[in-house]
Amino acid sequence: VSLLIRHARVVTLAQGRRPRRGAEARNLSVLDDADVLVEGEQIAAVGPGGTLKAPGGGSVLHAEGRVLMPALVDCHTHACWAGDWSHRLDEWSQKLAGKPYLEILAGGGGIMASVQAVRRSTVESLRDSLAERLMGMLRQGTLSVEVKSGYGLSERAELKMLEAIEQAGRVFPGTVRATALLGHALDEGEPGGAEEFVNGVIRRTLGSVHARYPGICVDAFCERGAWSVEDCCRLFEAAQQLGHPVRVHADQFNALGMLERAVKMCADSVDHLEATPTQDLARLARSDTFGVFLPVCGLHLDNRYGHARAFADAGGAGCVATNCNPGSAPSGSMPLAIALGVRKLGLSPEEAITWATVNPATLLRLHDRGTIQPGQRADLLLLKHRDERALAFAMGEEHSEAVIGAGRLLHPPRAGLHARA
Ligand code: NIG
Repeated sequence: VSLLIRHARVVTLAQGRRPRRGAEARNLSVLDDADVLVEGEQIAAVGPGGTLKAPGGGSVLHAEGRVLMPALVDCHTHACWAGDWSHRLDEWSQKLAGKPYLEILAGGGGIMASVQAVRRSTVESLRDSLAERLMGMLRQGTLSVEVKSGYGLSERAELKMLEAIEQAGRVFPGTVRATALLGHALDEGEPGGAEEFVNGVIRRTLGSVHARYPGICVDAFCERGAWSVEDCCRLFEAAQQLGHPVRVHADQFNALGMLERAVKMCADSVDHLEATPTQDLARLARSDTFGVFLPVCGLHLDNRYGHARAFADAGGAGCVATNCNPGSAPSGSMPLAIALGVRKLGLSPEEAITWATVNPATLLRLHDRGTIQPGQRADLLLLKHRDERALAFAMGEEHSEAVIGAGRLLHPPRAGLHARA
C-alpha cells in the first residue's frame, strides 16, 4: 500500500547529528515544495514537488503547501491513572486556595491519592482510560508516547500499571514506551515505614519488574518528601546492574544534588529542572544526558519554568514534553507544550519543534522516526498551516490536517485523500 503526499512544505529535520544541539537544533531542513512517497510503513522517497509518482493502487494526499513534519514524540507522561480528569479536582481547589504541591503530597494527597485509586482499579479499566487519552494525543499529532507507571508503588500495583500500559500500547496505533517509575513517592503506610518501603522496592519490586520487563527504563522522583538522592542512587545502581537505563525527576522544587549524580551515572535524562541553577544546567548540557523540560507544570502549578534557554545555549540535548498527569500537568497536548516552550522556556519555534520530534525520539531510542527521509518510519503530521511556526503560535487550536502512523492515515478518517485512478 502506498501513499503519495504531494506539494507539501516538508520539515525534514534530516540534517545533523542526533540529538540536535546548539545551532543544529534551530535547523529544520525545510523543503519548500516537495513530495513524500510512503510505501508500507516507511518513507520510500522525498523529491521536488510534483515529481514523484505513486505506484498503481496507492492513494494521494494533496498537501497544497501545508507543512508536513515528523509526528510529535511525547517523552514524559504519567498518562496512566485511574479515572478521568476529575480525579483530583478537590486537590486543585486546595492549590487554588494557596496550598503548595509538596504540602498536599505530605498530607497523603497528590500522588498518593492517585496511588490509592490505582490500587482499587483493574488492569482493564486502567488500560481503557489510558487508551482513550492516547487517542486524544494522537489527534493532536503525537504518535510516540512514553508512559510511566508510578501510581502503584507496591510490587503488585506497579506490575498492574505496567500490564495496563503494555495492553494499551497494543491497541494504540502509535507507539507506547513504558517506563517503570518505581520511586515516585514514599509509601509510609508500608510495615517498616518509608525506609522499608524503599528497601522493598529495590530488593523485590525491581527484581519482579526486571523479570517481566527486562531492559525497561527505571525512573524516580528525587524531591523533599519523595525519594532522597541516596535512595534514588541505590535504586539506579541496582537497576543499571540489571541492564536497565535510568531517568530521574530532579530539581522540580528543590535542587538536592541529584543532577550531578545522574550525569555521573550516565542517566538517559534529567526531567523537570525548574529549580536547577545555571551552572548545573551547563554541566548537564556538556553531558550525554538529556534535559527534559515540562512547561505545562509551570503553567498549572506555580509559574516556575526551567532555564531552557541557558541549557540550549550551553549546547544541551533538550526535549519538551507534556508531563500529562492528573496533578501537576493536566494536558496531553504537545502543541501546548511547544507553545509554552517558546513563551516560557525561551526556545525559538524551530528549537521547540526539534525538541518535540527528533530529540525525544532519540531519547526514547526510537531511532527510526523524528525525521522525514527515506527508510524512516512514516509517522507524519500534516499541519493545517503553511508555516511551521504557526504550530507554536496558535494556542488551543486544532493544528492537525492529517496524522499518518506507520504509513496509515489515522486522523481524521479520510482527510483529503484521493484513491488513484
Ligand atoms: O512529573 N513530580 C512528580 N511526578 C509528576 C506529578 C505526578 C502527580 O502529581 O500526580 C510530575 O510532575
